[in-house]
Amino acid sequence: MAKKHILIIPGDGIGPEVTTWGKAVLEQIAFQYGHEFTFDTAMMGHAAIEATGNPLPDETLEKAKASDAILFGAVGHAKYDNDPSLKIRPEQGLLKIRKELGLYANLRPILLFDELLDASSLKPEILKGTDILFFRELTGDVYFGEKKRSEDRNTASDLMIYHRYEVERIARKAYEAARLRRHKLCSVDKANVLESSRLWRETVQEIAKEYPDVETEHMFIDNAAMQLVKNPKKFDVVLTANLFGDILTDEASQIAGSMGMLASASIGDGTGFFEPIHGSAHDIAGKNIANPLASILSVALMLEIGFGLKEEAKAVTQAVEQTLKKGYRTSDIANTKDDVTKVLGTEQMGQKLLDHLQQAVSI
Ligand code: NAD
Ligand code: IPM
Ligand code: MN
Repeated sequence: MAKKHILIIPGDGIGPEVTTWGKAVLEQIAFQYGHEFTFDTAMMGHAAIEATGNPLPDETLEKAKASDAILFGAVGHAKYDNDPSLKIRPEQGLLKIRKELGLYANLRPILLFDELLDASSLKPEILKGTDILFFRELTGDVYFGEKKRSEDRNTASDLMIYHRYEVERIARKAYEAARLRRHKLCSVDKANVLESSRLWRETVQEIAKEYPDVETEHMFIDNAAMQLVKNPKKFDVVLTANLFGDILTDEASQIAGSMGMLASASIGDGTGFFEPIHGSAHDIAGKNIANPLASILSVALMLEIGFGLKEEAKAVTQAVEQTLKKGYRTSDIANTKDDVTKVLGTEQMGQKLLDHLQQAVSI
């Protein structure tokens, strides 16, 4: 019996809509496997700015540090996207919590369910068999380097900066993962132009010597963006910097069919943070159409990576597979071949998933 305290940070937009179902899955897993999961909730992003003036209130950070794992939704609001002059911004909350919790490794698996081969805009024969695990560095790079704006406001800069230790620690994590997979690692950088990427490549080359059983490839980011859609099957573990990883994984979501399908685990020194890769999606917020599966698959990552509950994690992933196999879709992963009566809203999809989870475990 596992006893875990989980903090839920729903955030903004579709965050609360999808996180509701992630939490429901955790409750059902606890019930079915006899675990004791307790929950607390905290604010972040626009919701927190409105209530406290701070995108990451101290109380949220304290609760986060005191929990065994965090399930996060998304932050962001159109108000800030449309007004770059605003100084206090929802995304600052997310960046700060990643830094404060030392979450330097963001694992983004590109999990392609065969049932969704036709949901992608890419050809099924190109996609079938794809299985990629991205290791995106999460607490360095241009995200955290010094930001400047000239007095006349006409010049701006963000420092792209990496320290050797930051590259070493994520590289080791990525190599360890490659050892448990297909023993291939592709490190993506822009070492033909950027000094920070030359440090990155040099460091990865050094770490590679500790893992002679893993085949290492170095690729420039522009080429990687192209290879990812040309031949995604060629990739196993992809190791890359914060900004490149952010962009490549949104691109890779189209291999899995939708942004609504990609989960992630942010790990590092302490408490793990589990989050879909998508944002607050203002365009669909409040309409009961967001896909909750990315949040639910983030729960599977929490169970597996955060708590070491492999069987429970597998039950969640299998419930997703079964639900898709029965033809149920949210609109983002539906296509013209799908049965329109099985295209569901967020809540109906969440409920179907719970039904399948219950059946799978009771067999
Ligand atoms: P987004 O990921 O919110 O949405 C991109 C597109 O994907 C939209 O068309 C959206 O409808 C669709 N989409 C995303 N999640 C979906 C889901 N679960 N089901 C169905 N469709 C889904 O990215 P954006 O539009 O560039 O950003 C919107 C806001 O979210 C911005 O304020 C941005 O800063 C923020 N953002 C936050 C995070 C985060 O909190 N981790 C991540 C990305 C963007
Ligand atoms: C993500 C998001 C964030 C990022 C933003 C909202 C700060 O796009 O989690 O992928 O760029 O890391
Ligand atoms: Mn992103």
